[in-house]
Amino acid sequence: MEMKDKVTSKFEELFGAGATLYASPGRINLIGEHTDYNGGFVFPGAVDKGIIAAIRPNGTDKVHAFSLDMNEMSEFGLREEDLPAQSWARYIFGVCREMQKRGVKVGGFDTTFAGDVPLGAGMSSSAALESTYAFALNELFDGHVDKFELARVGQATEHNYCGVKCGIMDQFASVFGKKGNLMRLDCRSMEFEYFPFDPKGYKLVLLDSVVKHELVGSPYNKRRESCERVAKTLGVETLRDAEMKDLEAIKDKISEEDYKRARYVIGEKQRVLDVCDALQRGDYETVGKCMYQTHWGLSKDYEVSCEELDFLVTVAEECGVTGSRIMGGGFGGCTINLVKDELYDHFIAEAKRRFNEKYGHEPKVYPVVISDGSRKL
Ligand code: GLA
Repeated sequence: MEMKDKVTSKFEELFGAGATLYASPGRINLIGEHTDYNGGFVFPGAVDKGIIAAIRPNGTDKVHAFSLDMNEMSEFGLREEDLPAQSWARYIFGVCREMQKRGVKVGGFDTTFAGDVPLGAGMSSSAALESTYAFALNELFDGHVDKFELARVGQATEHNYCGVKCGIMDQFASVFGKKGNLMRLDCRSMEFEYFPFDPKGYKLVLLDSVVKHELVGSPYNKRRESCERVAKTLGVETLRDAEMKDLEAIKDKISEEDYKRARYVIGEKQRVLDVCDALQRGDYETVGKCMYQTHWGLSKDYEVSCEELDFLVTVAEECGVTGSRIMGGGFGGCTINLVKDELYDHFIAEAKRRFNEKYGHEPKVYPVVISDGSRKL
């Protein structure tokens, strides 16, 4: 059965007829990692995997939500003190609260949902969930929240109800996605442009290591704090406003670790622009080189990669793949690979064989299909 039929039939079983279906996607990001919360550029696109939800207002002040993937029901109210216990339900609760804060009269509703974004792969399953409900509640409860603000509702949900001080990239990509197009977003001005993406002679493919390293503490938030400390020392609002020479000038005032974090971010800011220019010239070799530079920057300077992902990127390099890097927040997940058509089968076979030999399982392979953003089905 298709995902949307499963979601609908579960809804009918639990709550009866009359639900409306909404969907939002996960995302890839060609380049521009950990730049969003530094006011820099990102270059994501929505994918053909996401969340589908069936929803119907129920005229009460309670939400009844059923997750097909967890096979679990959560019931919660809509006041700040009603925070549900299940972590998956906090995303929905957070979206309700953030919509209320923006003046939308969110009432109770019944809902079932399911997803096919691989969890922990760095493809933003949580943004897909947030965007689905932000988009749906805005329609169902007659909100007048614009699309940028819907993305911010998802981001604020992460900040205020899930403990991750994320940037805006994932929710933006999920809401604004457009079939066949990447989007270059300037995270300072929030201006963006669609870039048709159809690299003739190349394929874009994700290799999922299926590794998720739970690091002690909250490493993502720590990276953000490092960047904010350096920006403060430099007297700028974000690292977007810093150049490499500015960083060199304060090198002895900051820790070695903060220095490395900022060095990566300042380099990455320029790489996004270089990649966009290269794409417009059809120069995929430059795109690929930048992807490798991003990877090794994320690995050595930003330290958000891990052994398994470094290994996959090394295999890609050795196979002659045009570009390869870790994608998303890091600490496990996927690599994104730009591969020439004629090399594709060989690379996939090699990556599977060598990874399996070393780690005892094969990486999963997801060909990238750039798709539409949040919508009613
Ligand atoms: C996560 C965050 C994003 C972004 C990326 C890294 O996906 O949610 O805001 O910072 O990591 O680029």
